[in-house]
Amino acid sequence: METAYFNGSFIPKEEVHISPDDRGFLFADGIYEVVRWYGSSFYDIESHLARMKRSMKEIRIGWDSAGSFPGIAEELIRRNNLAGCDALVYIQVTRGAARRTHAFPREPVAPTVYAFAWSFNPARELIASGISTILRKDPRWNRCDIKSVSLLPNILSFQEAVEDGAMESIFVREGLITECAHSNVFFVLNGKIFTHPESTNILSGITRKNVISLAREGGLEVVEEALPEAALKNISEAFITNTSFEVAPVISINNIPVGNGKPGPVSMLLRQKFHSAVDQ
Ligand code: PDD
Repeated sequence: METAYFNGSFIPKEEVHISPDDRGFLFADGIYEVVRWYGSSFYDIESHLARMKRSMKEIRIGWDSAGSFPGIAEELIRRNNLAGCDALVYIQVTRGAARRTHAFPREPVAPTVYAFAWSFNPARELIASGISTILRKDPRWNRCDIKSVSLLPNILSFQEAVEDGAMESIFVREGLITECAHSNVFFVLNGKIFTHPESTNILSGITRKNVISLAREGGLEVVEEALPEAALKNISEAFITNTSFEVAPVISINNIPVGNGKPGPVSMLLRQKFHSAVDQ
């Protein structure tokens, strides 16, 4: 039996009942986070908590107990017997249930908070062999910095990638590469690592932030500047980062090989540095 967290209680997942008037269901009016459990601890849960609070603030959802998220996540790991496993915890906070109207509920309603945990196969060998990607026009709105549950553009582009036999969809906005359907993206050009700066056009990935630090600590030059699409023909490497893939080398974009079509040395070095940091 799976145990979930729902509005203050730990209950069997099948007993979670969400109102059809929930604004998360009607409008995707909510935010989420995904944190990774590495067998004995969470990966940088403080940064995930800070990002969750920021997303809530940006869309004006108030959840007074937001600070309890790390405790909830640990309890979900414990109650679902996931200690010792690789696992993920998902949390979603919506504006709550009220009769459908676009404006916020006039009488304040409690947010709906739902979280669950599941064991996860990191498929490290598969990812280390490199992933194929597609390149598409960024179909999203201009507040990609908010981790909103409104993911339809991401879903449609990701599905296109899946149907093309690829594992991620890279986005271009006004000639510049932003990020991917569910990852941040980096490129190696003339020995320097380029990635889009933090802005409203990307989600500030927790993995992104920590990989930039690992790269700089290792003496690599990281330039937080968007790569023009036109520069793709000159890159020697590309890699993506996210909570579940960690650092994943990109071996092709739209069926065109990146570099020699094999995971590049900078990507593999950073992947290894990331693993050394989390496996400590
Ligand atoms: N996705 N950019 C987007 C659009 C994302 O959805 C994600 C994460 C990232 C990487 O963020 P992080 O390194 O903090 O995981 C970048 C999560 C994993 C998801 O939607 O499942």
